[in-house]
Amino acid sequence: MNCFRCAFLGRAVLRAASLFAIAAFAYAQNSGAGQARSKDTVGSQGPLPVHESYAPAVIESGSSHFQQNCGFCHGRDAGGGESGPDLTRSKLVSSDMKGENIGAVIRNGRPEKGMPRFNLPDAEVTSLVAFIHSQQDKAMSQTGTRKGVDESDLQTGDVEAGKQYFNGAGTCVKCHSPTGDLSGIASRYHGLKLEQQMLYPRDAKSQVTVTEASGKVLTGQLAYHDEFTVALIDSTGRYRSWPTINVKYKIVAPADAHIDLLGKYSDADIHNLLAYMQTLR
Ligand code: HEC
Ligand code: HEC
Repeated sequence: MNCFRCAFLGRAVLRAASLFAIAAFAYAQNSGAGQARSKDTVGSQGPLPVHESYAPAVIESGSSHFQQNCGFCHGRDAGGGESGPDLTRSKLVSSDMKGENIGAVIRNGRPEKGMPRFNLPDAEVTSLVAFIHSQQDKAMSQTGTRKGVDESDLQTGDVEAGKQYFNGAGTCVKCHSPTGDLSGIASRYHGLKLEQQMLYPRDAKSQVTVTEASGKVLTGQLAYHDEFTVALIDSTGRYRSWPTINVKYKIVAPADAHIDLLGKYSDADIHNLLAYMQTLR
């Protein structure tokens, strides 16, 4: 393990965490929820979750299993080690809702690429998933933090520049319209929540098209997917599932574009975009 890097990451994490605490405090004060100005109030705002939330005990148990089985390759914090990638930046992890992707990697491994196969009890796999999710959520909320989560910062953007970025370099207009899906977005989310949702939309749905052996094609919202099963909810609300070996299918997850965008924004881009979003009431 490269320990210069660990130490550096550790510091960055601490710094980001304290910035977040300050911002959350300022936010609580501004929104009038700050009467009880105790540390508890700040702490209970917590990092904003992206994945499902898990009981702390499950995450803790996952943390110790992770140290035991995975940490020496992926780093103790899942942030990457000498022989395994950074899981907090993994797309496979961010598109995983309940362990369907991560579980498959753990169970099958990718032996030819240096990822061993593990035969672990389900409960252990679940706790590992919980730990990896929580590490990624932390990393994600730090991205948000570093990029200006301070409530006063939220007001510093330039609406016109944000609009230009939306229609230009940000490519937002490819998928969104200020008078269509994003109309009223500033009434649905405020301040930090709006910024968070803009950076990484939670609960975004994927679509799937399934072609049965007979040639019949069905399209709907992706409801479940692992290597054995694919399922959708069709337009009438009906749940349908197939063994993956019997069908051909194609998943489209347009919100993944947000993950790619995270690496591209400057602080100013985000403030400007947010200022623009705040005009969409
Ligand atoms: C011997 C080193 C090693 C160990 C131990 C190990 N991994 Fe990996 N892991 C890897 C490598 C290397 C890859 C990348 C494989 C590739 O390039 O496709 C990987 C990939 C992954 C991925 C997929 C990441 C992605 O974005 O595609 C996940 C999830 C993962 N590992 C989780 C775990 C978990 C959980 C454990 C412990 C139960 C674990 N790994 C143990 C080396 C390891
Ligand atoms: C490739 C398509 C794509 C691009 C490009 C894209 N988004 Fe999104 N965005 C989505 C999808 C899909 C969702 C989830 C919508 C849903 O599930 O309701 C989403 C959600 C959002 C939301 C939350 C909407 C809500 O109602 O909760 C905001 C705000 C947003 N995007 C802003 C942006 C901005 C700003 C940009 C450009 C910097 C951008 N998006 C670029 C596809 C895209």
